[in-house]
Formats: sequence, structure tokens, C-alpha cells
Amino acid sequence: MASPLRFDGRVVLVTGAGGGLGRAYALAFAERGALVVVNDLGGDFKGVGKGSSAADKVVEEIRRKGGKAVANYDSVEAGEKLVKTALDAFGRIDVVVNNAGILRDRSFSRISDEDWDIIQRVHLRGSFLVTRAAWEHMKKQKYGRILMTSSASGIYGNFGQANYSAAKMGILGLCNTLAIEGRKSNIHCNTIAPNAGSRMTQTVMPEDIVEALKPDYVAPLVLWLCHESCEENGGLFEVGAGWIGKLRWERTLGAIVRQRNQPMTPEAVRANWEKICDFNNASKPQTVQESTSGIIEVLHKVDSEGVSQNHTSHAASTATPEFTSGIGYRLPSFSSSYTELESIMYALGVGASIKNPKDLKFVYEGSDDFSCLPTFGVVIAQKSMMSGGLAEVPGLSVNFAKVLHGEQYLELYKPFPRSGELKSETVIADILDKGSGIVIVVDVHSYSGKELICYNQFTVFVVGSGGFGGKRTSEKLKAAVAVPKRPPDAVLRDTTSLNQAALYRLSGDWNPLHIDPNFARIAGFEKPILHGLCTFGFSARHVLQQFADNDVSRFKAIKVRFAKPVYPGQTLQTEMWKEGNRIHFQTKVQETGDIVISNAYVDLVPTSGVSAQTPSKGGELQSALVFGEIGRRLKDVGHEVVKKVNAVFEWHITKGGNIAAKWTIDLKSGSGDVYQGPAKGSADTTIIISDEDFMEVVMGKLDPQKAFFSGRLKARGNIMLSQKLQMILKDYAKL
Ligand code: NAI
Repeated sequence: MASPLRFDGRVVLVTGAGGGLGRAYALAFAERGALVVVNDLGGDFKGVGKGSSAADKVVEEIRRKGGKAVANYDSVEAGEKLVKTALDAFGRIDVVVNNAGILRDRSFSRISDEDWDIIQRVHLRGSFLVTRAAWEHMKKQKYGRILMTSSASGIYGNFGQANYSAAKMGILGLCNTLAIEGRKSNIHCNTIAPNAGSRMTQTVMPEDIVEALKPDYVAPLVLWLCHESCEENGGLFEVGAGWIGKLRWERTLGAIVRQRNQPMTPEAVRANWEKICDFNNASKPQTVQESTSGIIEVLHKVDSEGVSQNHTSHAASTATPEFTSGIGYRLPSFSSSYTELESIMYALGVGASIKNPKDLKFVYEGSDDFSCLPTFGVVIAQKSMMSGGLAEVPGLSVNFAKVLHGEQYLELYKPFPRSGELKSETVIADILDKGSGIVIVVDVHSYSGKELICYNQFTVFVVGSGGFGGKRTSEKLKAAVAVPKRPPDAVLRDTTSLNQAALYRLSGDWNPLHIDPNFARIAGFEKPILHGLCTFGFSARHVLQQFADNDVSRFKAIKVRFAKPVYPGQTLQTEMWKEGNRIHFQTKVQETGDIVISNAYVDLVPTSGVSAQTPSKGGELQSALVFGEIGRRLKDVGHEVVKKVNAVFEWHITKGGNIAAKWTIDLKSGSGDVYQGPAKGSADTTIIISDEDFMEVVMGKLDPQKAFFSGRLKARGNIMLSQKLQMILKDYAKL
């Protein structure tokens, strides 16, 4: 059995513990080793009068049972005094249960000022004052558990309880923020809305129900929420009769009722009312950030048709802002080299896994068909921007803390070589005024030597700098495209790991927002978020897997719009629609149903076009000359060599990570044979090597054995036979 939950040495203050629920909590805490402060003012349920006997009786009861407790008779409105009792008696304070309460039920029109005020004072202000008195002590000791008591009357409303409902929901709001502010000091705050028979409820509940709904059926939840091992923070629970349920907010997908160049009207609200109130596919925002991040998507959506002129009041301003002078600005060119290590790290960062055998080629440099994921192209390009260049753009003195990655386009002109050096040329293609912010369109072309390998377009949204009357759209912008309306043709899912962002950032995006909890909090997030481009990589991988059998040479281009943040650990669900060679997709967080990448697509190279895309055909390879030469020489001395070697070697010559040609050297019979293509019979040894490395081996610059151990040369089948290669290549391929 799991160990019992104990509170030995913990000091627990329960307010209003002289009766009802509070008494049950105090007894339960004491029974499990806590040192308890039993607070109660001792008045009636309307808050009239006071006395010490209520608290004393409970203290007596605890002591009789062998527990430790002291009484406090102050009103919760004297918060400091309650905490002082705990400190004086036991030297610390670990847990505060805000439970004290009274009722002044009246229909709304009959609520007096006094009835209103006393309810707010005891419930809301009392919870505030007692908690504040304990807060600094808890922060110092980096530990605290706080419980708030709300009510179904507040959550749902209840006739005759307007004052009480308001106070009880105020307490929930207080808890929501304390949960956020306390988290880093290991102070957790949760709220319950109990249902129990007490003197408070005997006026509204039948007697037998009051009897049946024992406070003892609420206390266990309170103890659990206040235990040091409980990680729950900011939760709201309804509890009673032995049942416990958790509550959360739900929000409809809603409707955008604003259109380009038209005023936003109440009629448009009416026309969309059903959609605004339709809870199908509702989302469950958990934080302010999640609640407001959808706003950016709304701006995008409206802006893709244009924002109404009346929305921004800058129509009159035609002044050209300074920062349009940045259009056309070229950042210094940026070179970056990479090896298999970087491309494997990237693949792991975007969720490629040996769980899926077809992913092996992305994570193991020894695979026959080792390939670099096409979306690796954004990493290379982003480095050129991350090197600080954006801050140098003339006139563009924007607050980079307010920058959001809006959209991304990537086009490949050939698959990435398995290693190499790419030089990126970055230009500010355009700057747009979206009213609520500016959009900077950044084009990055990356070259291997003089050959263009890929083109990226980053669309960066800077919140709050717009409204200068600048242009709203650009013909340079690669457009996002809405997904088809029918159900998706395929859906693939991957659960990101808690370390996903920690892993992804190793590919070069070092923004602390994705790893540092404090930084994330300052930026307004509950915790570090996943890189948008990491989600992008997951989705692109899904498309490649589903519709191109992981063949990187079929990947042409991708466009995405980032809609919402993702937290590491969440499950990404890519929904895909095939329309010819275009795969439309959107990505959701499975747990919340939120769309995190919208209006996205991948363009694939038609199957018939793949060979044309493959970088080099056999004829263009340098190794072809060598094989030809080996074939010619064998004619003279083949007989002898066959006797010495007696084996068939099949060669897979790769270029840019793809197999570009196969050759066979048959040294098993007659005077041997060399021909292009796989072995006609079976091969004893298959050797996989790039065209470049093959040439190095032949020219004696690369030792085949070293090449094997460093992974540059792979051999399958009878590996021992490959020792004889040196002989063949050295003796018969002297060019
Ligand atoms: P109760 O009336 O039995 O207990 C409340 C205790 O708080 C009393 O002993 C009272 O003397 C004490 N108290 C009142 N004002 C105080 C003050 N200013 N300072 C210190 N102590 C004070 O009521 P019950 O049912 O145990 O309620 C406990 C809490 O649960 C209350 O906050 C109540 O609003 C809440 N609640 C109870 C529900 C129920 O079904 N019993 C339903 C929803 C909420």
C-alpha cells in the first residue's frame, strides 16, 4: 500500500474551525500529525456575536485524541493575529485553510450596504488578509499550501445570494493569481466549492440531507490538496458526499464578425450569434496567454482580407514611417557548416524516432539512405537572422520582446547534402502595416557554393508598432491557404517529450523562452513553450511519412501559419488533405483541440519528377570513371584477381545523401566483370559510400578502414571481404 499522507511537523491554520467543515479539517490534520491552529470568532452564522468556546471545544477534542492544537478567537479580518498565533505556538506556518464564513441571504434589491460589506469582509477580505500574513513566511521557507473556499452559489449564481456569490467568485480570482505568483516558491493554492451539512446549510437543506452530507466527506480532498506531495496548483474542485470533480473553463470557437473596409456592427454580431455560442469543438484555455493568443490569429484572418478602416484610426495619417526605409536592406551574408551530427540532432528535435523504423535514415548516419530532413533548411536560414542582423535594420527599432513568428515558407531546390556549408543571403523583402502591428517579411536564400539549395521566407509580426498608414499586403508574401472543408484524408500524431524544446534548441534557436521558466513567465507564458518551428518540423515529417514514404527528394515546399503556442509534453496531431501534389494540413494539440498551425500546405514533387530532382545521375558521378577504369584493367589481369578475391561487391554510390548509382564488381568467376546496376546474382558485400569519399579512397587520401569506423563508408554482408578492397582500388584504379 502507498504510504499514508502525514503532516508531522507541519503547522496548519484553519479559519472558522470551531464547527462545520473547518472542525472536520482541523481534526483530520491533527490526526495525521499536524500542529493545528483552530481559529474561530465564535459568532452565529450571520456573523453576529463572538466567543471562545467554539474554538476551545475543537482544541480540547484534538488534545484528547493525542493531537496538538492551539486556539485563536480573532476574526479573519485580523489576519496577522491568526498567523502570529501559529508562529508563537509552533514557530512556523505551512498551510492556510481559508474556511471561515457567514451568510446574509437577501434578494438583490433588499441587500443593505452592511449585508454586502460584511460578506465581502469576512469571505474575500478575510481570505486576503490571512493569506497575506502567511505569504512572506511561506516564500522564505519556499513552501506553502493554501486552500480557498468558494461555493457553487458563486460559480453558478443562486437566488438570494448576490453578496455571497460575488465574494465567493472573488476568492476564486484571488486563488487563480496566487497560484501563478506562488508557483516559483513552491506555494500552491487551490479552491474548493464544498457541499456539506452544517449550521450554514441547515437553513436551506432538508435535515436528513444535512445529516448525510458529512463534512468528513470533504476533508480528505482538503488534506490532499494541502499535502506537500500534491502538485495541483490553481485547481477548482466541487466536492461533497464522497464525490470530487474538477472544473475548468470552456470557450466556443467563436466567430469573426469583422470584415475588410466595413464597420463592425451589432447586426454582424446578431447574424453570427449561433456560431459565437456554439460549444461544439470548444477550446479550454487555461491561461491568459492561451486565452489571448488566438487574437493574433484573428488579426491574420481579417488581414488576409484586410482590416476595416475604422478599426484603426490612422486612415488620415499618410506619413511614411521610418521603418519602411528598411525594405530591401540586406543583412550581412552568413555561412554555416553542418555535419551528420547537426542533421541528426535536428531530426531528434522534431521527433524523428527509432520507434518508427522508417525514421532510422534520419537519425543514423550509417543507414543506407541517410537523409537530412527537408525542414532542416529553416535552421540554417534562421541562424543568419539570429546572429543579430535584424536589430541592425535601419529605422527598425522595434521591441523584439513583442515579436511573434507569424508564418514560414520554405522551398527546396535539391535535397540537403548530408553535410556541407551553406551561405545565406538575407533581405528585408517587405514591411507591412497591419494596424495592430507590423509584419516584417524576411527572405533568406541559402547556397552551397553558387548553387541555390533553399529559400525561406520568415513572416515576423511585431505587436503594437503598426497603424502608420503603410501598405497592408505584399505581392512578395507567400500566401497561406485554407484547408479543405471535408474531413482530413489522414491524421498522424506524436506526443512531444517534456524535453522536446530542450532538445530542439540544440539546433541553434537559443531563445530562453523555450527553456527558462522565469523568462517564460516574464514573457507571459505559464511555462517555457515549444519552438513554433519545432511543431513545424513535426508536421512536415508527418506529411513526408504519410504521402512521400519519407523520400526527401519528393519534398518541394512548405507554408505554415503559427496560430498558438504548444507546451512540451503535448500531443501534436497533423490533419492532412491530399489535393494532387499539394498536401494541405493543420496541426492541433490533441489535449486541447487547439489549432496551433493553420492554413498550411506541403508541395510534393510529382513521382515522375523525382529522378529529375535527384541531384546527380550515375553518369555525372566521378566514381563512374573509376568503375569504367577498373573494368578495363580487369580484362588484362582479372583472372588473377578473381583467384585472390573470389567475391561479388555491390556498390551504392550516394550524392547529397541519396543513392545516385549502383555498381557491381564481380570477382567470382572467369576474369571478373564490372557493370552498372545491382549484382545480377547475390552480392557478398554491399558497400555504401558517397561519390566524394569513394574518390578520396581511390586516390589514397582516405583509408577505407577509417572511413568505415567513422561511418563514412558502410558495409553490409561479409564485411571482412571489404579488407580486400584496398587491393582492388589501389592496384586497379590508378587514374
Ligand atoms: P459553518 O457556519 O458551520 O462554519 C463557519 C465557521 O466560520 C463558523 O464556526 C464561524 O464561527 C466561523 N466564522 C464566521 N465568521 C468568522 C470570522 N470573521 N472569523 C473567524 N471565524 C469566523 O459553515 P460551513 O458550512 O462549515 O462553511 C465553511 C465554509 O464553506 C464557508 O466559507 C462557507 O461559505 C463554505 N461553503 C459551505 C457549503 C456547505 O455546503 N456547507 C457550501 C458552499 C460553501
